[in-house]
Amino acid sequence: MTPRIEISFAAYDAAEETPTAVLCAQDLDLSDHVKALIGKAEPAFYKAADVTGFKGRARSSMELVAVPGLATGRLVVVGVGRPGDLATNDVISIGGAAFGALARHKAAAACLVADLPGRGGRDAAETAADLAFGALLRSYTFDRYRTRKPEGDDAAPNGLQRLVVRTSDPDAAAAHFESRRSIAHGVFLARDLVNEPANALGPEEFAERMAALTESGLSVEVLDEDKLSALKMRALLAVGQGSTRPSRVVVMEWHGAKSKRAKPVCFVGKGVCFDTGGISIKPAGGMEDMKGDMGGAAAVAGVMRALAERKANVNAIGIIGLVENMPSGNAQRPGDIVTSMSGQTIEVINTDAEGRLVLADLLWYAQDRFKPRFIVNLATLTGAIMVALGKEHAGLFSNSDRLAGELTDAGLATGEKVWRMPLAPAYDKLLESRFADMKNIGGRWGGAITAAQFLQRFIKGTDWAHLDVAGTAMDSPKTEISQSWASGWGVRLLDRLVADKYER
Ligand code: BES
Ligand code: MN
Ligand code: ZN
Repeated sequence: MTPRIEISFAAYDAAEETPTAVLCAQDLDLSDHVKALIGKAEPAFYKAADVTGFKGRARSSMELVAVPGLATGRLVVVGVGRPGDLATNDVISIGGAAFGALARHKAAAACLVADLPGRGGRDAAETAADLAFGALLRSYTFDRYRTRKPEGDDAAPNGLQRLVVRTSDPDAAAAHFESRRSIAHGVFLARDLVNEPANALGPEEFAERMAALTESGLSVEVLDEDKLSALKMRALLAVGQGSTRPSRVVVMEWHGAKSKRAKPVCFVGKGVCFDTGGISIKPAGGMEDMKGDMGGAAAVAGVMRALAERKANVNAIGIIGLVENMPSGNAQRPGDIVTSMSGQTIEVINTDAEGRLVLADLLWYAQDRFKPRFIVNLATLTGAIMVALGKEHAGLFSNSDRLAGELTDAGLATGEKVWRMPLAPAYDKLLESRFADMKNIGGRWGGAITAAQFLQRFIKGTDWAHLDVAGTAMDSPKTEISQSWASGWGVRLLDRLVADKYER
């Protein structure tokens, strides 16, 4: 992964680059800087607004091209609505929208004037940094496997590569941007991992990419199959046994708290590099999307990278289980009984309910070894969570009202929203097996809940939350800050959780 665009901050300047984006509030309300920039072209601006019906509403925009008297050959005017109503995440989205409009044509460099009427009641430097953050997130593309540009793509050969963000205090804006850039790097890592096809990214290749994160300041430990056998992670190993590609567990550590011995926070991710379903094989239609079944692990990798690069004042552990779920002569069978690391036995009724087998051992290991303050696990665990929540919210299951509340707040702040779902003993009964301590699927109904209930059997007193990200980590709806199949969902959410509640 390389940073795709270079972002810099500069003072206001009459000679703005082409193209230039400016912000316009409701009722064509412009800041003084933008008015000065438009200068003599003001009649053309109002005429264009009249012709196009542009009023400065949120999520609207207009373009002025080759207007006499305007220094920039192309002016993109981005509507922001009422600036007083803007939350931080709205400002980030506006930055993304501006970048999208600027990148549409052939320019390799562009300018964004980061000024709102009355500053939108916000700190000008932070606003500039948030706009730049949105632009950077939007700039992500995954085209390493394209040998030619798609038909009808008019952008520059290498796209927009440089963005100058103009603001009153560029040094302060650049300082605010530092941590945001680190977070974007974490998001890009997660997106790259999820977008990669499974022939390029199996458990070993994934683990190798994690080993490279020592460059960001993380300690990274890769556990191979001998080590996993010695640890008795038989549930996790059973999932990978049908694949010729060996399983891996990766432990990432960031020690940024003042006291190296302060209890860590802990993130655990499902990393099924490809999920065919195993012997309980999936239907062919859409199976290609199962390359994204490591979206939970990708988010854990991304947030660990972000925390390390922005030198977060926290101790954090990331643990990911990397396996490939394949049918073969060596694959596990329906009816097999495995003994998990916890000692509890599991009857594998359906080999396609594999993520919970991986997580069962990881959750146990995380508690045993690290005694964390809390565990948040992320997993593309069930199709059922999409039936319940669609793609707008991830499912949240937790044994802690406090942790659930903190995640809900972080979700609203970042736009990576979660919705709490129930856990209850009545659902737990559905997991009773005829032969073992439990079976790995419940009945027909409440599939996301019985999956969560299964995971909870491997939690011993630790504050814990499970995020079912099957609907949000992959096949993501396009937004102002992501046009990618893989949104990198969860990196910003967890980073915010840490920043707001666990850094001191
Ligand atoms: N990886 C899938 C869940 C999934 C489905 C993620 C669609 C993203 C998109 C998971 O391993 C799975 O196969 N779950 C089964 C569970 C069932 C066998 C109890 C499911 O959801 O059908
Ligand atoms: Mn599956
Ligand atoms: Zn799966």
